[in-house]
Amino acid sequence: MALAIARDLDMLGCKQNNERRQNGLEGHIVTMFLRYHHKCLSWSTTLTAKKFLRKFLQSYQTRNSSSSNSKPYFITTPIFYVNAAPHLGHLYCCLLADASARWQTLKGRPSFFTTGTDEHGLKIQQAAASCHQLPGEFCDAVSKQFKFLFDTADIKYDSFQRTTDERHIKAVTAFWRRLEKAGHIYQGSYAGWYSVSDEAFLTDEDVEEKTLSDGKTKKVSRESGHVVIWTEEKNYMFKLSDFQQDLLHWLNSHPIYPTQLESQVRHMVQTLPDLSVTRDRERLAWGIPVPGDDSQTIYVWLDALINYISALGYPHRDISPWPPDCQIIGKDILRFHAVYWPAFLIAAGLEPPPKLVVHSHWLADNVKMSKSLGNVVDPVDKMGQFGVDGFRYFLLKEGSLSSDCSYSDKRVAERINTDLANTLGNLLGRCTAPSVNRTQGLPSLSEEGLFEFLSQEEREAHHTLYNLPEQVDHLIEQFQFPKALDLVMSKLHWANAFVQTHEPWVLSKIVASGTMAEGRHDKRSQQEYEIQAAQAHLDIVLHVAMETLRVSGIILQAVVPDLSARLLTRLGISESERTYRHAQMPCTEGHRGLGEKIVLYKKVDAGS
Ligand code: MSP
Repeated sequence: MALAIARDLDMLGCKQNNERRQNGLEGHIVTMFLRYHHKCLSWSTTLTAKKFLRKFLQSYQTRNSSSSNSKPYFITTPIFYVNAAPHLGHLYCCLLADASARWQTLKGRPSFFTTGTDEHGLKIQQAAASCHQLPGEFCDAVSKQFKFLFDTADIKYDSFQRTTDERHIKAVTAFWRRLEKAGHIYQGSYAGWYSVSDEAFLTDEDVEEKTLSDGKTKKVSRESGHVVIWTEEKNYMFKLSDFQQDLLHWLNSHPIYPTQLESQVRHMVQTLPDLSVTRDRERLAWGIPVPGDDSQTIYVWLDALINYISALGYPHRDISPWPPDCQIIGKDILRFHAVYWPAFLIAAGLEPPPKLVVHSHWLADNVKMSKSLGNVVDPVDKMGQFGVDGFRYFLLKEGSLSSDCSYSDKRVAERINTDLANTLGNLLGRCTAPSVNRTQGLPSLSEEGLFEFLSQEEREAHHTLYNLPEQVDHLIEQFQFPKALDLVMSKLHWANAFVQTHEPWVLSKIVASGTMAEGRHDKRSQQEYEIQAAQAHLDIVLHVAMETLRVSGIILQAVVPDLSARLLTRLGISESERTYRHAQMPCTEGHRGLGEKIVLYKKVDAGS
């Protein structure tokens, strides 16, 4: 094995590639290794070899490389169907990725975040036809709406992959050829159920009879409830059944998160019929033709899944930063990402995803959102009503991976008013109001003040402030945004209560009375002690409260970027001092001046 690796290293000219990023190089070599050896070794054997190879490469790199930039944090969202306008659920999915990527950047790791639109398939073909539009024009228009939504919501994606882009089509064609050449595709025929809404092939066991709202009884998918149609056609099949052992081996590395879902995937892997990966072109013209057989169109899910690598320039040799650190998906598309996708990748000699983060769905007032019910929540509308950051905050604070959440305007307004306006905004106002903070600055830390004016409990609470970033980090790494935000809010609640106890407005009045009495020598001597004490007390109260705001503001940048930027600017924190590392350290430095006065977040109204 070591010999084979050493031979590959030489063949790949590692010595000339020293300047490549360490993990990019590793990924590249691992990929090449898998490609060369996949035919003679099982994927699980190559995985063990891969681990060995990584270690080998790390020591090789240490010896030979002067630069070793770390691999960017690579995160993906599903690409969104353009059959209808974007809704709340789509934004939520992207927000999880955006906040996670921003968090990594805050921690000093560059990130790469890809999203996009899924534009081929019968569903889109039919949607375009019902609008009397050509599919291409129809897709352009709806894809633009998704971009508009993400730009409005301050989603900082690095790549927006459309499946109708030339580079994607090239990638799909190359991927198909790779599967075909490796012998994983054969010509066959399919007879079974097809759900156009899910773009999924289903077996008899996957469907059931259901009486629909129009009184008619139809076959529907057990999983999604969508109507299915019987389909019989000649097409190409993927030998999914060959990958059962590989999939089980992959599952042993626990790539599914939340972990409770792993058993569901194991169950799916138990029966793996070969998968139809094309549709008759007469039925489905809107898609990528099979290379060398234009009577067939590539199955839309195979086409769509490849977006994750076409965004990286596949079929180029170097598709770093593949594999992704994390792929975010909704619970309805688990089978496609946890069964088909890793099988396709392994078949093509690529690494399967190490982590799939699966989230639940948003309902509207406890009812599934649907166009026919007319209850689809338009996120652009809502951001207009509640503000971009308020809406981002609400979704991340209330959304959950493990259970469906119900959307209502009332809940949004309550959440924003309680947390952003009352807790965060109020604390900022209390510490920066000119009547309290007369010098408009952050008083420097006085150890004496800490001991003289704060109780032991308060001192301890203040010291734990600098552990907050690490505690939050632990939760964000697991996509537990609600809990992470709870931690931040409870620190801010504590600071508000602390301010309430110490009444800086009273202290400030005492200090001011001393300023007024300055000229009068008789009174000055009487008040001197009291005023000095009030000043020292006021300084320490403002310091502690404003430090809580600074640390919280730095953390919140991942969730509410604009609001945090305004908060930190108001606190006088320069842009170079807003990293995770800065939040872990006390700001001991002298009296820095505040930025311009702001209203952090106005209270919002749920409307009628
Ligand atoms: N095009 C496929 C994905 C292909 S990825 C290679 C698709 N598109 S979708 O537009 O229907 O869904 C995209 C994502 O949005 C999915 O992860 C899905 O779970 C998510 N959501 C759709 N409705 C949702 C809610 N109501 N709530 C939260 N997320 C929801 O599937």
